[in-house]
Amino acid sequence: MPERPAIILDCDPGHDDAIAMVVAARHTELVGITTVAGNAPLARTTRNALIIRDLLGIDAPVHQGSARPLLLEAHAAPEVHGATGLDGADLPEPSGPPASTDAVAFLVDTCRAREGLWLVPTGPLTNIALALRQAPDLRRRIAGISLMGGGTFGNWSPVAEFNVWADPHAAAIVFDAGAPLMMCGLDLTHRFQATAERIDRIRSAPGRLAAVLADLLDFFSAAYIGRHHHMEGAAVHDPCAVLAVTHPALFESEERHVAVETTGQLTRGMTVIDRRDLRSVPPPNCRVMTSIDADAGFDVIVEAIRTRSAAGAPADAEVVR
Ligand code: BDR
Ligand code: CA
Repeated sequence: MPERPAIILDCDPGHDDAIAMVVAARHTELVGITTVAGNAPLARTTRNALIIRDLLGIDAPVHQGSARPLLLEAHAAPEVHGATGLDGADLPEPSGPPASTDAVAFLVDTCRAREGLWLVPTGPLTNIALALRQAPDLRRRIAGISLMGGGTFGNWSPVAEFNVWADPHAAAIVFDAGAPLMMCGLDLTHRFQATAERIDRIRSAPGRLAAVLADLLDFFSAAYIGRHHHMEGAAVHDPCAVLAVTHPALFESEERHVAVETTGQLTRGMTVIDRRDLRSVPPPNCRVMTSIDADAGFDVIVEAIRTRSAAGAPADAEVVR
């Protein structure tokens, strides 16, 4: 793995997507950020990506992508992320519009111009599926796809995780594409929680970015604690997909065959992970990340926030509403 792998982050910010952006800004060559409808409608996720990009003080282009899933209606998650997708902090206006409104063209053109990119989707897989369908050669040109999604249990239904549930047809295309695939699912991310102590460490860092992210995580954790019996903070899902590329030693994993249920009446968006010990199971198509060293992973996040926050505006900078 190169020291700073080149990635395109495909996201729907989203509180944990914002944390994924920070880790990507610190530890990757962030070639671009593409947005998709998911946690909030597309205009909001794009706006949020632009705002966080600005707070990070980086110049990665933001390209707006798909407003709705391939076949189904869009469905946001205001109960987890608020109506804006990033409730909980005073946020500045974005510095300008996205670089384009054709994220799929950006994905295809960039992966064709440059071999060895990682695609890191942390939202519904609509953009990635459209790019792979338009340009099947991409699967051989990219280093791989490291996605947040799926698991052996659900958060949006008893068996389905939100990103895969939101666009199961796109997820099925991605899992069937034959590209190198890594998956950080709920089994792992639910053990990666923004506890009060971890949020305090972020808040104690100087600079505006750290203050904003601490406020966002307070909101996100309150939503999780309010909705669950047994959580000490929000599951910080999305940076795990970046960390799987940048810090693979933090993870344990298994090669498995994973298929996506697209039609089940009760099982829409279920990732069917074949864990049978039989010799006759289908060959693996995915490296399923099964555990993460959560303390060490959060150390990486806190250090990334400290570094990027120090490079940006001070915490008491004027907020434009
Ligand atoms: C996923 O859904 C969203 O709420 C998060 O941003 C994450 O990508 C977790 O199911
Ligand atoms: Ca997300």
